[in-house]
Amino acid sequence: MKKQKIPYSIPYIDDREIGEVVKVLKGKWITTGSEVKKFERLVKKHLGVGTAVAVSSGTAALEISLAVQGVGEGDEVLTTAYTFASTALAIIHRGAMPVFADIEADTFNIDPGKIEEKIGQEYELTAAGLQSKKTKRFLRGILPVHFGGQPAEMRTIREIAGRYGLFIVEDAAHAIGAVHRGEKIGKSPHPVCFSFYSNKNMTTGEGGMIVMDSDCREWEKKLRMYSMHGLSKDAVERYKTGLPFYDIVYPGFKANLTDIQAALGVVQVKKLPVIDRLRNRVAAWYDEFLAGVDDITTPVIRAYNHSARHLYPVLLNPKLKGCRDEVIIELRKKGICPSVHFIPVHFHSFFKTFFKEEIRLPVTEDLFSREISLPIYPGLNRSDVKYAADTLKGIIDLKGKK
Ligand SMILES: Cc1ncc(COP(=O)(O)O)c(C=O)c1O
Repeated sequence: MKKQKIPYSIPYIDDREIGEVVKVLKGKWITTGSEVKKFERLVKKHLGVGTAVAVSSGTAALEISLAVQGVGEGDEVLTTAYTFASTALAIIHRGAMPVFADIEADTFNIDPGKIEEKIGQEYELTAAGLQSKKTKRFLRGILPVHFGGQPAEMRTIREIAGRYGLFIVEDAAHAIGAVHRGEKIGKSPHPVCFSFYSNKNMTTGEGGMIVMDSDCREWEKKLRMYSMHGLSKDAVERYKTGLPFYDIVYPGFKANLTDIQAALGVVQVKKLPVIDRLRNRVAAWYDEFLAGVDDITTPVIRAYNHSARHLYPVLLNPKLKGCRDEVIIELRKKGICPSVHFIPVHFHSFFKTFFKEEIRLPVTEDLFSREISLPIYPGLNRSDVKYAADTLKGIIDLKGKK
């Protein structure tokens, strides 16, 4: 295989991050402490929100948010199968059941019309809530994912959730910096979960954060305790003040972020405006170089959305459907490393046996069979993007003529 000319993703890290991490390593405190607090303060300021709790991953952010919402056995949570498996696994780890609504064909996001349809056809409103006619479990909440950095239709989703008394937890793993109808993703009265995994728009290596636009100290306290075993006092409080005793108040997780990771985050969050501009510039170049190519559909961003451009997902024309994997192999041979987002959750072997009935999601399945995620990261320059776009066009041309 040729040396990769254009890898899938490269983090946007320089000596500033290295300096901050070294400072923490040279200090006396490397686990959760003042650096995490500083990181949370900066994210709150950046998003203009009241609550931010740093955790060890985006997955942990989802698990903790669902735990604090009280999700448990006998519950169902409506989400999308066009996501990374951890969205659905977080629900399953609560003893609850994910149920899927299909997605919009242009944005890849959960389709509010399909949510309505599912609720209308499969649930009935009882005194105890929306009960599934089939499983007798109760639908408790909606977990939308902002696919690729483009916000889901939150206004409508909020309206549906309000009408049926459902909670919302947002999977915003891709969406730090995204804006929906003038509001930054994160500025919500319910938990919004970010991921800072290594390929995300901003990274702490591994990491995540739960944010809410609320000053509800009870919520914040609970989220924080859940991230640290359910402990009544964190390590700083235990060692710096009074007696070292503590109590376990909740059945929590071990999911705290360390000061070493937070030191990375402190610099990354300050770079977010630049990262966002550079990613959007790369996307605009792809749009330009792929314009007018009949066999490819480039991403559609709705006029009232600003996308964080975590992904640049292109769709092959249905007539090239069977060629997707070959196109990926050809791109790799030319030194370009694309990816696929996402293998639908119900396609994985665990879920095939976990769900007792066959799941059919026609839009999800169709888009997956035709999707290729092109490399997108701040360090890509115009000629890299032109090379990737031209190479893709060349490969598609040949396939189209066969
Ligand atoms: C949509 C989505 N949700 C959740 C996650 C989980 O984030 P993390 O890897 O930080 O646990 C990811 C990670 O790639 C993701 O893409």
